[in-house]
Amino acid sequence: MADIAIDLGTANTLIHVKGKGLVFDEATAIAYDETTNSVIAIGDAAADMIGRTPPSIRVVRPLSTGVVSDFGAARNFLQLAIRQVVRYNRFSPLRVVVGVPSRISGAEFKTFQDALDSSRIAKVYAVQEPVAAAIGADLNFSMPRGCLIIDVGAGTTDLAMLSLGRVVDSRSLRIGAEALSSAFANYLKNTRRINIGDKTAEEFLQTYGQALITDKIPGKILGVDMKLGLPVEFEIEAEEVHTAIKEPISLIVAELRRILDSVPPDLAADILREGIHLTGGGSLLRGLPELLHEQTGLTCHHVDDPLKAVVLGCGRILEDMDAFKFVLESMPDEIKSSGAI
Ligand SMILES: Nc1ncnc2c1ncn2[C@@H]1O[C@H](COP(=O)(O)OP(=O)(O)OP(=O)(O)O)[C@@H](O)[C@H]1O
Ligand SMILES: [Mg+2]
Repeated sequence: MADIAIDLGTANTLIHVKGKGLVFDEATAIAYDETTNSVIAIGDAAADMIGRTPPSIRVVRPLSTGVVSDFGAARNFLQLAIRQVVRYNRFSPLRVVVGVPSRISGAEFKTFQDALDSSRIAKVYAVQEPVAAAIGADLNFSMPRGCLIIDVGAGTTDLAMLSLGRVVDSRSLRIGAEALSSAFANYLKNTRRINIGDKTAEEFLQTYGQALITDKIPGKILGVDMKLGLPVEFEIEAEEVHTAIKEPISLIVAELRRILDSVPPDLAADILREGIHLTGGGSLLRGLPELLHEQTGLTCHHVDDPLKAVVLGCGRILEDMDAFKFVLESMPDEIKSSGAI
């Protein structure tokens, strides 16, 4: 049976097919032709159109802050993405392992599930994303030893304390790399009267964003001067970029402090020894490990493949469901594996 594992993220969707490995790694986006109401592209091809479409084309990003925000678009996107990687066989419905934010509600999970809905899906198994990331990154958390993992995605930041293969405590913030891009764009609008596109803000921060300033090189950016109504290129100092994004970053630091504050002392000692594991694309923001170290005194390091750890973990679970049964069973009841819809 060609079962699949999916990391359906706010920015990126990755799919692992049993026995084949990672076969899909594209943006979570879908483009419609409004005149014919048909899908013209999904994935990276659709995301490339964002901010550059004529009125007849609409690009939708079906997820927001880690959960489905446009149900129809999410469903179309998933059906087309899955169709690209596995062949339809109505006698052999798929089992799907899907990564979900650690604090997803039952209703939000139901929307995930319904978006995956098709006669081809026999069963949907949910795994909390930090747990999947820990498995994908080969972190040893099945022992009675604390392991703290932070997944900074595009729409959410998940913080989870793991031990004995389970989540001891977790927190989820609806803040990720996209919140930094919005904060940066708003800052430029309010202080310099310059408008920049979402994609420009995102790409600029990937190069020039810093959680802790170690490099003072200014960055160049293109936008539209709101007073002149003309496109302009301008320079912005590293300190100013930092000022623009420091608030959402401080919320992540505050949440980390909260989870550390509530950790039982023995687990805290493990974290002191092992440090904090960072995953997710947003964790690649320059200076983030250094800032978290400065704020907590703990060492922080990236897992091996921060953008793929969740899907790698979901894939491992899929390849050996028996060995990882304890992970699937530890999900809250309303989110536990579900039969065909
Ligand atoms: N070097 C970098 N510096 C800062 N941000 C980065 C960097 N590389 C990638 N990102 C950001 O990481 C995000 C994508 O990360 P990821 O794929 O983990 O998110 P996601 O899984 O789609 O989102 P979520 O888990 O929140 O639903 C994008 O918003 C991207 O801008
Ligand atoms: Mg993610």
